[in-house]
Amino acid sequence: MSEGKTDTGAGKDDKALLRVHDRELELNVLHGTMGPDAVDVRNLYRQAGVFTFDVGFTSTASCESKITFIDGEKGMLLYRGYPIEQLARYGDYLETCYLLLYGDLPTQDERARFEHEITRHTMVHEQISSFFRGFRRDAHPMAIMVAVVGALSAFYHDSTDINDPYQREVATRRIIAKVPTLAAMAYKYSLGQPFIYPRNDLDYASNFMRMCFAVPTEDYHVNPILARALDRIFILHADHEQNASTSTVRLAGSSGANPFACIASGIACLWGPAHGGANEAALKMLMEIGTPERIPEYIARAKDRNDPFRLMGFGHRVYKNYDPRARIMQQIAQEVLAEVGDPNDPLLEVARRLEEMALKDEYFIERGLYPNIDFYSGITLRALGFPTDMFTVLFAIARTVGWVAHWREMIADPQRKIGRPRQLYTGPTLRDYVPMTERGTGLSDAVHHRNDPC
Ligand code: CMC
Repeated sequence: MSEGKTDTGAGKDDKALLRVHDRELELNVLHGTMGPDAVDVRNLYRQAGVFTFDVGFTSTASCESKITFIDGEKGMLLYRGYPIEQLARYGDYLETCYLLLYGDLPTQDERARFEHEITRHTMVHEQISSFFRGFRRDAHPMAIMVAVVGALSAFYHDSTDINDPYQREVATRRIIAKVPTLAAMAYKYSLGQPFIYPRNDLDYASNFMRMCFAVPTEDYHVNPILARALDRIFILHADHEQNASTSTVRLAGSSGANPFACIASGIACLWGPAHGGANEAALKMLMEIGTPERIPEYIARAKDRNDPFRLMGFGHRVYKNYDPRARIMQQIAQEVLAEVGDPNDPLLEVARRLEEMALKDEYFIERGLYPNIDFYSGITLRALGFPTDMFTVLFAIARTVGWVAHWREMIADPQRKIGRPRQLYTGPTLRDYVPMTERGTGLSDAVHHRNDPC
C-alpha cells in the first residue's frame, strides 16, 4: 500500500525568522507533498516563553496527515491523491472506505475480503435494542446516535485496547459496519416500527435503505438508481481532512480513549448547524423561503450584520471557490428527482435561483462564499425519502470512515501526544478569597440579566 511521499524535514534554507520582544528565533519551515508549508512552532514556548494565538485554528496545522487534501482556492478535493469527481463517478463507497483506511484502492481480492468482513459485522448485540427503548420516541436521531455509538464500548470490550493492532482492526470493521444499522434503528424507533435486521446479500447503501424503509409485512425492493445515488452521497461525505468533527475525534483519541467513545464525540460535534447540521438547516431555509420572489429578502438578511441569519449551505472555512462536492451533489439531486418526485421541484428552483443571485452579489463575491455540499444535499435526501432530522445522521454514517481513518493514523503515529492547547488568559489577576459576610447583599448585574427559566 503506497502511503505517498511526505517530506517534513526542513531544508537548510527553510527557516522562518521570528522576533519576540528582543529575541530573534529561527523556526523550521515544514513541507508537505501539496499545499502550504507550515512553520514549526512546537518549541516556541520552550524557546521564547510565548504561545501562538489562533482562535478557530484558521492558520494552524494540528497534525501531519496523508489521507485527504483540499485546495480551497482551486476547489479541489483528493482522497489519498484521487480526485473526488473520479471516485464519485467510477468508485463505490466501500472501496472508498478501503482507500481512506489503507492508503490505496483495493485489488479484487482485497476488495472482496473487506466487503465480506464489513458485511459480516453489520448486526448489533441484541441487548442494544433494549438500550434504544430508554429513549423518548421523539428524540432527535443524532441524540440517539451520540449515545448508542458511545455505548458500543460497553458491548464490545474485546476491541477497545487501542495499543493492540488486531483490536484496532476489529473496532474499525465493527464501527463502519454497525453505524448504519444503529442509524436505521434510530429511524425505525422514531416511527414506532420494528427494527429491520441487516441483509448480507445487499451492498452497503441498499442494505441501509432496506433497514430504513422495509417493514416485516411485505417485500421491499431497493431501487438501484436511488441506492447508487446514496452510495455516491456517502463517497462525497466520507472525509474532509481536519474539519471540526474529525479534529474532535483526534483530540478525544489523543488521550487514549477507546475508538467507540471517540467516534461518539465526532457525532456530537457534527450535529452543530455550522457543520453537519447545515444540511437539515439548509432544507428548512429553502422551505421557509418557499418561492423565488422571497429570495432577495433572505439575501438581505444574510448580509445584515445585525441579523444572525446566514445562508445555510453557503460558505466554507477552506473553500473560497465552488465546493467540488456541491457540483456533484447538484447532479445527484437532478438524477434522484428525475427518478422519484418532481424534476421541477419548486425547492430545486428556489435553490438554483438563490445560488444564482448570491453568486452575483458583491457581499458573497468579496468573501468567497459559494454553495457547499449541504446546499443541495437536503433536497436530494428528502427525495430519497428521508425526513429532515435524519439528514445529519446520513452525514455521520458516511463520515464515520473518515473519523476512523484519522483516529488510526493518529494512534499509529510515533509522535503522538495528548492534544492540549494553551490559552491567552484575560480573566482576573490573583486575588484573595472574600468571606460571604463581606460580599454585601443584593443581586449582581450578571444575575439580573440572566433569563432564569424559573
Ligand atoms: N451567509 C452569510 N454570510 C456568511 C456566510 C453565510 N452562510 N458564511 C460566512 N459569511 C460571512 C461572515 O459573516 C463573515 O463576514 P464578515 O467578514 O463581514 O464578518 C465572512 O463571511 C467570513 O465568515 P466566517 O464565519 O469568519 O467564516 P468561517 O470560516 O469561520 O465559517 C462556516 C465557515 C461554514 C461556518 C460559515 O460559512 C457558515 O456558517 N456557513 C453556513 C453553515 C454551513 O453551510 N455549514 C456547512 C459547512 S460545509 C459542511 C461541513 O463541513 O460540515
